[in-house]
Amino acid sequence: MTPCAAIHPSILNADQAHLADELARVEGADGLHLDIMDNHFVGNQFGGPSLAQTVLEHTSLPVDAHLMIEDADRWAPQYAEMGCAVVTAHAEATRAPFVLTRELHRLGAGAGLALRPATPLSVLEPVLAEIDLLLLMTVEPGFGGQSFIDLMLPKIAQARRLVSEQHLELRIQVDGGVNRSTIERAAEAGATVFVAGSAVYGAQDALEEVEHLRALASGHHHP
Ligand code: DX5
Ligand code: ZN
Repeated sequence: MTPCAAIHPSILNADQAHLADELARVEGADGLHLDIMDNHFVGNQFGGPSLAQTVLEHTSLPVDAHLMIEDADRWAPQYAEMGCAVVTAHAEATRAPFVLTRELHRLGAGAGLALRPATPLSVLEPVLAEIDLLLLMTVEPGFGGQSFIDLMLPKIAQARRLVSEQHLELRIQVDGGVNRSTIERAAEAGATVFVAGSAVYGAQDALEEVEHLRALASGHHHP
């Protein structure tokens, strides 16, 4: 059964020197969110294929890779090949989303597409029926620990309307500033997959925080 609210901790702000322990702390979450940044698409660098390999070897959770990188058409498929459950490219960084999603599916991964906060949902409308995950950024991508942009709530609601009107299969994920005080607004607007970095890794008991967030979000049911 798919839970109506899935919590995916992001390891961006975890203690990188103790990565295996940090991954163990969140066993029991619904997935693991792996941010990859190339210092071009965003002003920060993090991860890459070797980190992805290490993470895949040390977690039993399905890994969703969030690629904040230019030229995703070229660099995304390797993350599917190595076993990420979902690979998400930014709409702003792929020129051929139909080709990319088919390639990711061919390699056995789910296909996700992400939008920066200021990119309208309309740019993805033609391809929504092809993807498994729509990632709506609720902060400017690049860094953890920023505050949730409330102006994204209508965009989440608009995505939820499209999903139900067109009977789409995709899940709506939000990423950035998700914590105890913002998750319910995002859930109410229509998100069902929640990335939480600093909220989870800043907590004394990371798994308890995951459970708390999941319970808050689960009060708002979306199919
Ligand atoms: C930011 C990343 C996020 C980040 C979220 O660009 O995409 O996944 O880790 O961190 P918090 O939850 O602290 O906003
Ligand atoms: Zn992310």
